[in-house]
Amino acid sequence: MQLVILDSAQALAQRAADEIESLLTSKPAAVLGTATGSSPLPLYDELAARCAAGRISFAEVTGFMLDEYVGLPEDHPERYAAFMERNLRSRVDMRPGALHGPDALNPDLQAACEDYEAAMAAAGYCDLQILGIGSDGHIGFNEPGGPLDSRTHVGVLTEQTRRDNARFFDDDVDAVPTHCITQGLATIMEARRLVLIATGSNKAEAVEHLVEGEVSEDWPASVMQRHPEIELWLGGLLEPSKALDAFGDRVRRMPFRPWYELPAVLRDTDICLAPLALDNRFNESKSAIKWLEAALVATPTIASPTEPFREAIDPGRTGFLASTEQEWEEAIELLIGSAAERTRVGAQAQREVLLHYSPE
Ligand code: F6R
Repeated sequence: MQLVILDSAQALAQRAADEIESLLTSKPAAVLGTATGSSPLPLYDELAARCAAGRISFAEVTGFMLDEYVGLPEDHPERYAAFMERNLRSRVDMRPGALHGPDALNPDLQAACEDYEAAMAAAGYCDLQILGIGSDGHIGFNEPGGPLDSRTHVGVLTEQTRRDNARFFDDDVDAVPTHCITQGLATIMEARRLVLIATGSNKAEAVEHLVEGEVSEDWPASVMQRHPEIELWLGGLLEPSKALDAFGDRVRRMPFRPWYELPAVLRDTDICLAPLALDNRFNESKSAIKWLEAALVATPTIASPTEPFREAIDPGRTGFLASTEQEWEEAIELLIGSAAERTRVGAQAQREVLLHYSPE
C-alpha cells in the first residue's frame, strides 16, 4: 500500500490524472474503473482538460462504474449513469456506450448483477480502479457488515450513507434510494491497481481504519490492505477553521512531510496551530507529532483542548488551548502581536518537553 498525502484536492487530482495518463500512454485500450460522488470530480475536470489539450485519449478505453442506485427513473439526473455521462464520458473522447454500469432498471436485479460481473470478467476486470470512500468506510456501496469476498450484488444503503448523499437530492434524505447494485469487494479487488481518493475531515475515521485498522467487515475498505497495488491519496484532512480568516495572509498550511523535516520548518514558523479538526484522533496524532517538534525548537503551539494537548500544554505558559473561534483568535493575536510573548511561551514549551521526554 502506498499512502500519498497531499495538501489539496487539486494536488490529488493532478497526481491521479498523472497516473491515468501514464496508464493510457502505455495501454491506450485500458479498462478503467470509475467512481461517482464528489471525491473524483476534480480528477474528472483534470482528465477533461488533458483530453482537450490532446495529452490523453479515451478513444479506446472501456470503463466500468462501481455502482448504481436502484429505484431512480431512467431520466433522473442523480442516476450514476447520468452522473458519469455528465462529468466524464461526454467531456472526453470516450465512445458512447463504452462506459458501462450495472443495469438497475432491469426488473430482474439478480440477473443484472450476474450480467455485470460477467461483463467485467470478459473485459479482464479493471487495469485501474478509481475509488472514493464513505464516511462509514464503504467502497463502492459495500456497506459495513457485508462479506469481504462479495461479487456484484444488490445492496442496502445505510442511514449514514443516505444522509451523506442527501446533498445530491436537495437535502431530502427520503429522496435518496434505499438500494443499489454495487460491484462487490472481491470484484473491486480484481483490479490490477486501486487508487482511492479521500478528502475532507469526515473521511478521517474511515481512513484511519483503512490504513491502521484490522481487516474487518465493520470497515469494508480495510480489505484493500490485502491488495498489493493500492495507493491512497488523501488531502485536506485538516480543514482551516473560520478563526483563521483574519490571519489569512500569515497562515501557511504545511504540506505533510516526513517528521524529521519538521524541526527545520517549524524553526521558521511563528506559531504552530494544531489541530484544526476537533474530535479526530487520526488528525490529532499527526498534530501531536508536529506539536512535539514545535516545542523542541521553541515554537509556541495553539491547540484544541483535546487529547493529547489537554494534558501536555499548560495554558498560557507552554502554549494555548482554544476551543472557540474567539479563543483561537485571542491566542493568535497575542502571539502574533508580541515577539517577546512568543519567545517566552516557546522557551517554556521547549523546557517542559526536554524535561519530560529526556532519559532520566
Ligand atoms: C461512488 C461510490 C462511493 C463513494 C463514496 C464517497 O461510486 O461508490 O463509494 O465513493 O460514497 O462519496 P463522496 O466522494 O461523495 O464523498
